[in-house]
Amino acid sequence: MKSSKLRFTPNKKKKWPIVVTVIIGSILIIVPVIWIGLHNWNLDKSIAALNLEQQADEPSQIIPETPVEPPEEPKESPKPPVEKPSNNRYDPNQKYPEVPTVKNGFIVANKQFPLPVDYNNGEDPLARTAFNKMAAAAKLDGFELVAFSTFRSFERQETLYNQYVEKDGQQAADQYSARPGYSEHQTGLSFDIGEKNFEQHWAAASFGETPAGEWISQNAHLYGFILRYPLGKEEVTGYMHESWHFRYVGVEPATDMFTHKQTLEEYLDL
Ligand code: DAL
Ligand code: ZN
Repeated sequence: MKSSKLRFTPNKKKKWPIVVTVIIGSILIIVPVIWIGLHNWNLDKSIAALNLEQQADEPSQIIPETPVEPPEEPKESPKPPVEKPSNNRYDPNQKYPEVPTVKNGFIVANKQFPLPVDYNNGEDPLARTAFNKMAAAAKLDGFELVAFSTFRSFERQETLYNQYVEKDGQQAADQYSARPGYSEHQTGLSFDIGEKNFEQHWAAASFGETPAGEWISQNAHLYGFILRYPLGKEEVTGYMHESWHFRYVGVEPATDMFTHKQTLEEYLDL
């Protein structure tokens, strides 16, 4: 018994390294096999996963000491400028409103702000009274003023505008005639003014060069009228200079606009 025990001991000593080697070897084979199996038997994926997990485990190792430049942000493509509504041209999508546009107490009619189709109040009595006063003052200075066109209905403006388009084409007509619904004459506050017996200058640029035209350009504001479409303000008003077209606004505002050489658009900041 004693000798068999002695024989057995050396055997036991020899087996342990084998067992340990087999276990470690198995682990070294089984673990990778399981890992690769978990990644659909894709070797690249398995290696990449190994790297990712390592990085996640060891964040301090992947944070470089110097900060990494953030990737350059994609340059924003320039946005098209938002087109501001303009007083001097028509918006093809513009609809006629139900009520007129009134700003700071002034009714507005220009290429941006049309009037309701049925806005039909006729000639404004305050404007007529002011015109009569002005005409009386002009008479004392030797000029007989005539208001040859004041209130015009939507339909009347439509007829006139269509005639001008037929004669000169739309582009030219738009420089001197408002489209129906867009004419200030429909407000009853605009007066086309000329001199009696000088009809050749009525609604003509030449009126501004006549003594009567000169007189009114310098005095209209004292009676509450403004020269509505002045020379040099075509881009603001949308119309060519009309030396005969005056708009009643009241003495104080007219004097303000005259003094500061402002159009109604500028005065009201439209
Ligand atoms: N002549 C002006 C612009 C009008 O037609 O109202
Ligand atoms: Zn006019």
